[in-house]
Amino acid sequence: MTGERTIRIPVAVETAAAGYDVIIERGALARLAAYSAAVAPGRRWAILTDTTVRDLWGGAALASFESAGLEAQTVAFEPGEASKSRATWAALTDRLIELGYGRDSGIVALGGGVAGDLAGFVAATWMRGVPLVQAPTTLLAMVDASVGGKTGLDVPAGKNLVGAFKWPAVVVVDPTVLRTLPDDVYRAGFAEAVKHAAVADADHLAWLEAQAGALLRRDESTLAALIRRSIEIKAAVVSRDPVESGLRAILNFGHTVGHAIERQSDYGLPHGFAVAIGMVAEARLGERLGLTRPGTAERLASLLARLGLPVAVPPDMPADAIAGHARRDKKNRESRIRCALVTRPGEPARTETGEWAIPVSDEDLRESLASL
Ligand SMILES: NC(=O)c1ccc[n+]([C@@H]2O[C@H](COP(=O)([O-])OP(=O)(O)OC[C@H]3O[C@@H](n4cnc5c(N)ncnc54)[C@H](O)[C@@H]3O)[C@@H](O)[C@H]2O)c1
Ligand SMILES: [Zn+2]
Repeated sequence: MTGERTIRIPVAVETAAAGYDVIIERGALARLAAYSAAVAPGRRWAILTDTTVRDLWGGAALASFESAGLEAQTVAFEPGEASKSRATWAALTDRLIELGYGRDSGIVALGGGVAGDLAGFVAATWMRGVPLVQAPTTLLAMVDASVGGKTGLDVPAGKNLVGAFKWPAVVVVDPTVLRTLPDDVYRAGFAEAVKHAAVADADHLAWLEAQAGALLRRDESTLAALIRRSIEIKAAVVSRDPVESGLRAILNFGHTVGHAIERQSDYGLPHGFAVAIGMVAEARLGERLGLTRPGTAERLASLLARLGLPVAVPPDMPADAIAGHARRDKKNRESRIRCALVTRPGEPARTETGEWAIPVSDEDLRESLASL
């Protein structure tokens, strides 16, 4: 599958040169079964999705399998971050057993990043791993979560602490499903798109600044261009470092603080909102450390605010508590907080020893948070 609408993502796996396609195509949901069967023939498909997405788009997904003469069922869970849990993973796998799914199963993750991470982890662990198709339905999942193979769950100690790399067999992006997305969920997706530009592509950042109005209006062709460029950037990074032994860490820009804020809000704040605040805080932190060009935090804050995202720490959140969660983040080593930082828009920062996750002191982090 090549051509205008397809981006080929090569993923270098240790033993073999494997890869997968990302299809970006209006109306692709109607061809979900064909795309799935092409990469994993002879499967019984389980479409894992949350109840909101099931009610909106589950029918269209199922219809595509029906008309292709393939067996499929939807298996749904409650919407929201709270479902990215061991309990929901257990309930879903028990349900697959009840429904008689075996080694011949294929899993479709239909939904936002929660469905992608959770269903992806089910696919990674079910019968020691069965083929996974990512069918993202939020902007955030389209530009980021569905591509790259990270899956997992949150545990009481923090986000994504239990998980697995699970390369999808194919990613099917149908931008038309975004039309049912509530406005705040739609805007949350911009955070990861800005992140991609901030760490890897200064021209794309300038493009985002110029197109903010069209993006907020959900102008179709502007949106399609955004999705494509964001996926290209992520694909380029992930292809060079699939399992995050180095460079891939730059995609965590904004996430040490972002995850800590999400955790401190009891996951009341959407991931994209927390990442927006996290990027501004970490850009400030970089400026404070003399690593980031002055003015970078201001520039990011102004773009993110124009895109309708929060850029300040919520007033009821003490910097201490956020720093405490950051200390427990899985990016840390030797119990030092680590952050992915930028030297200027489009360029990730590196330590003298070549590391992409920069150790920072609690105090510098707290001071940067206090300055937001
Ligand atoms: N694996 C990765 O690389 C990666 C990258 C970024 C984020 N993430 C994870 O993604 C999660 C956040 O994803 P999210 O923001 O998509 O959240 P989400 O999956 O909870 O979706 C947000 C809300 O939108 C609803 N929804 C989804 N599609 C819809 C549609 N088309 N129309 C109407 N409503 C729809 C959902 O029911 C949900 O209520 C976080 O857990 C984050 O950690 C993972
Ligand atoms: Zn993220």
